[in-house]
This record gives sequence, C-alpha cells and structure tokens, in this order.
Amino acid sequence: MLPMLLMMILRSLRRSKVVALQQHNYTLITGASSGLGRALAYACARRGYNLVLVSLPGEGLEAVAAYLRRHYGVVVHTYETDLTRQSAVYELHAWMERKAITVGILINNAGIGGTRAFDTAPPDYLERIIGLNIRALALLTRLLAPQLAACRQAHILNVSSVAAFAPIPFKTVYPASKAFVYTFSLALRHELRRTPVKVSVLHPGPMATNTDVNSRLGTHGILARWSTLSTGQVAEIALRGMFDGKAVIVPGLINKIARGLMAILPHAITLPLVALIFSKEIKNTTDHETGTDYRSEWLAG
Ligand SMILES: NC(=O)c1ccc[n+]([C@@H]2O[C@H](COP(=O)([O-])OP(=O)(O)OC[C@H]3O[C@@H](n4cnc5c(N)ncnc54)[C@H](OP(=O)(O)O)[C@@H]3O)[C@@H](O)[C@H]2O)c1
Repeated sequence: MLPMLLMMILRSLRRSKVVALQQHNYTLITGASSGLGRALAYACARRGYNLVLVSLPGEGLEAVAAYLRRHYGVVVHTYETDLTRQSAVYELHAWMERKAITVGILINNAGIGGTRAFDTAPPDYLERIIGLNIRALALLTRLLAPQLAACRQAHILNVSSVAAFAPIPFKTVYPASKAFVYTFSLALRHELRRTPVKVSVLHPGPMATNTDVNSRLGTHGILARWSTLSTGQVAEIALRGMFDGKAVIVPGLINKIARGLMAILPHAITLPLVALIFSKEIKNTTDHETGTDYRSEWLAG
C-alpha cells in the first residue's frame, strides 16, 4: 500500500514538472529542418512541447513548423540562420529576448562533418565544422544557461556521435569536434549538478538521414548497415534518456558494443582499421574530390 502511494505521489510530481516545462518554456532545437533534428522536433511536438526550430535559410523549416502546429496544436517559432557566422548565435539570442521566448529544453543537434584528406581539405571546410559543432554549440549553451537554470526543471541535450569515442583518419576534425561535445557535456553536467538543469549527451551511430549519408554507409560494410537506426528511433531513445536524466545516451546495441571496444582496444589496432574504412569512403564518393560542396557532406558519425 505504502509503496503504491509513494509511486503515485512521484508520478504526479513528475507530471506537474512536465506540464510546467510544456506550458511555460520552449524547446529549442538546432538543425531542425531535416534528419535527426526534424525527428526530435516531431517527437517533442507529439509530447506537447512548444518549439523554437533553427536551421539554415531556405530549407523548408517553415513547412516543418506548419505541419507540427496543424497536427499537434503546439506553438512553433522558426529562426533561419547560418550558425557558423560569428554573430549568428548572438542574433538568435537577441531575437528570443525581443519575443520574450524562454527555453526550458535546449537541443544542440546541428552538426556537420565530412571525409577528406586533412592536408588537402580547404581551410573553410574545417572552419565550418569547428564553427558549428564546437563554437555555436558552446556559445548557445552559454547564452541560454541563465534562463535554463531559472526553470523548475530544465534539460540540455547535446548531439555528439559514436565518432567521439575514437580518432578517425580522413575525418580528423569531425570526431575531434564530437569528442569536444562529449567532454564539454559531462563537465557542464557536473558544474550544473546543483541547479535544475540536467545535461545529457547523445552518441548516435549511423542514421539513414539522407541519400548522401545512405550511399556513404553503403561503403562501410555490413556492420554499419546493421547498426543503422532511423532518425525516429534515435529521437525516441534520445528523449527518453534525456527525460530520465541520463548523462550519456548511446542508441542501439551495436553502437554500445563499438563504444566498449573503442575503450579497450589500443589505437595501434583501431587506427589502421578505421583508416581503411574511411579511405574507401573517399575513393567511392566523387563529391569529396570536387572540394566545393560542403553542404553535401553531412556525415554519418
Ligand atoms: N547522420 C548520421 O549518421 C549521424 C551519426 C552520428 C551523429 N550525427 C549527428 O547528428 C546531428 C544531426 O545529423 P543529421 O544527419 O540529422 O544532419 P542533417 O540531416 O544533415 O541535418 C542537419 C541539420 O543541421 C542544420 N544545419 C546545418 N548547418 C547549419 C548551419 N551552419 N547553421 C544552422 N543550421 C545548420 C541543417 O539545416 P538545413 O536543413 O537548413 O541545411 C539541418 O537542419 C549532427 O550533429 C550530426 O553530426 C549524425
């Protein structure tokens, strides 16, 4: 009898916190026009959360927002910007202040990568990866931290990758940027442990996000195909983990095993193997050799 009563009290406390999160604050998702970001937006809207969606201009973000308003009755604001621009994160923050939008959940999802030989990669390509995956993520988190800490309950979900767990030749900067997201998130989680803000970091493995990623995954062999999850599956696992207050979320059994192996195997063994896999990707993907279209290089982790 007593345990049941306790369970009921806990459940209703949890429900009242969720209602407070849904009604008074927005969930901000970067990179929400496609891929995992869009799946996270759908999953949040289904749960009744009002949204601020951010992505690059001209990629159909308003259509995503209109669908969510119509189907789930939530309030959705959209903001289109290139987050790699120096002032973009400050402008986004100022726009939110003007609109009196406060955020209770921040999902730093936007991220880019690519596969290139480092010594011939255009510097601009490296700058964009660092600018989006590291600078924009850390800065947006910093600017929104005070309002998150003022909530009764708040969450930050940073999207890293299984690539964060190993150095990857021919990707070099991408896995290093995702390793930043990993350690940044764990350190921030500790720093904010006495506030209502719970920080989680998500490490997806391969996801079938677009045709470009799909064709690349084709070059990685059977294991990559087995470990590929849909964005909808990853979004659900991510939100469940985040609301449960998990520190590290690794979706899928194969990705969990990969993480474990990377932790125990010496680099002398893993580096040549990984280099072999990704050098094949360069050979099989002609657009990497053109050196011009970075936007087509969204990359599986
Ligand atoms: N796909 C995978 O297999 C995989 C594996 C592990 C980790 N991840 C990580 O998961 C996250 C989502 O990946 P995804 O594959 O779903 O990506 P995606 O389909 O390429 O979508 C990326 C999103 O980020 C936005 N974006 C890109 N550059 C931006 C910029 N400069 N400023 C603002 N927004 C920008 C895009 O906006 P537009 O649509 O307007 O371009 C889009 O909404 C990334 O952090 C990625 O590193 C992906």
